[in-house]
Amino acid sequence: MKILITGGAGFIGSAFTRQAVLKDYQIIVIDNLDYAGDLKRLGEIKKQIRFFKADICEPSKINSIFKKEKPQILVNFAAQTHVDRSIKEPTIFINNNIVGMQVLLEAARKYNIDKFLHISTDEIYGEIEQGEFFEDSPPNPSSPYAASKAAADLLLKSYMRTYKFPGIIVRPCNNYGPWQYPEKLIPLTILKILCNKKIPVYAEGKNVREWLYVEDCARGIAEIMEKGIRGEIYNLGSGEEKQNIEVVRAILNLLNKDESAIEFVKDRPGHDIRYKLNSQKVLQKVGWQPKVRFAEGIKRTVDWCLEHKDWLLSK
Ligand SMILES: NC(=O)c1ccc[n+]([C@@H]2O[C@H](COP(=O)([O-])OP(=O)(O)OC[C@H]3O[C@@H](n4cnc5c(N)ncnc54)[C@H](O)[C@@H]3O)[C@@H](O)[C@H]2O)c1
Repeated sequence: MKILITGGAGFIGSAFTRQAVLKDYQIIVIDNLDYAGDLKRLGEIKKQIRFFKADICEPSKINSIFKKEKPQILVNFAAQTHVDRSIKEPTIFINNNIVGMQVLLEAARKYNIDKFLHISTDEIYGEIEQGEFFEDSPPNPSSPYAASKAAADLLLKSYMRTYKFPGIIVRPCNNYGPWQYPEKLIPLTILKILCNKKIPVYAEGKNVREWLYVEDCARGIAEIMEKGIRGEIYNLGSGEEKQNIEVVRAILNLLNKDESAIEFVKDRPGHDIRYKLNSQKVLQKVGWQPKVRFAEGIKRTVDWCLEHKDWLLSK
């Protein structure tokens, strides 16, 4: 089986690629090595994969890779992923996350892909103060990032209906772990502490997210790739809800620091108060559940960051 992984030099895509090489797959990785992409994440496995520096928005390049490699499966991680950036520069998100998706869909259709996994996000559902979202809950995105991801999902759904396209949509909750770019809450907090700087926390830090360790997420995506049904959507949540302030406190605690470094800053516009997925479907139909609890995962992440301080500082 030949798998084409787009965005494989990113945080979750590289975790998925590192796991996939341990199995009997041929792996092709495409990434445009944007600011968030880094081949160091694939350093240990570089001899086991074939890498193409390419932009998913460029049809000629993408088509030529499909023609040459003829992958059977595509797993799409490539996207612009930071909500704050999407508020400042929405156009980049529309191009990468929607136009790029369309380019991949057309190439995959032309070269008869057997399975197309698209990595979406819990953010497409919007916020929910109580209760949880199911796979058939309607999209109600709040940020340009979430809207661009929702649009990509809808495009894929239209291809599944119109062309009987073999798509699967995966919607993970917030990931954390080694190699995450330090613009996201957890690595940013660790980096600020390591540099003796203030830790910015939006509003009162009460926004709630569901936190999933990246190795569990990558394994979940692989299990859906192997056992999931074409045409289906799978939520991928951990069930571990935390307020942002609780996450920051957990990190301060692990690094033996007090709370004086916290700086509450003006809230993000349109900031969703809470996300929560119902993930019974992936448990019952695929048999996946997370193995790493938050207390363990956050410790591993802090330890990794201490060991890779130079990488964090280079970002
Ligand atoms: N990190 C999370 O908590 C989270 C949660 C749910 C869903 N997701 C989704 O999972 C996917 C991966 O997220 P991540 O956190 O690893 O992101 P990331 O920003 O670390 O990685 C994205 C990768 O895609 C590449 N890329 C971006 N635009 C590209 C383009 N036009 N052509 C080729 N490559 C391109 C980047 O260079 C980078 O390597 C994204 O689609 C994201 O929306 C992430």
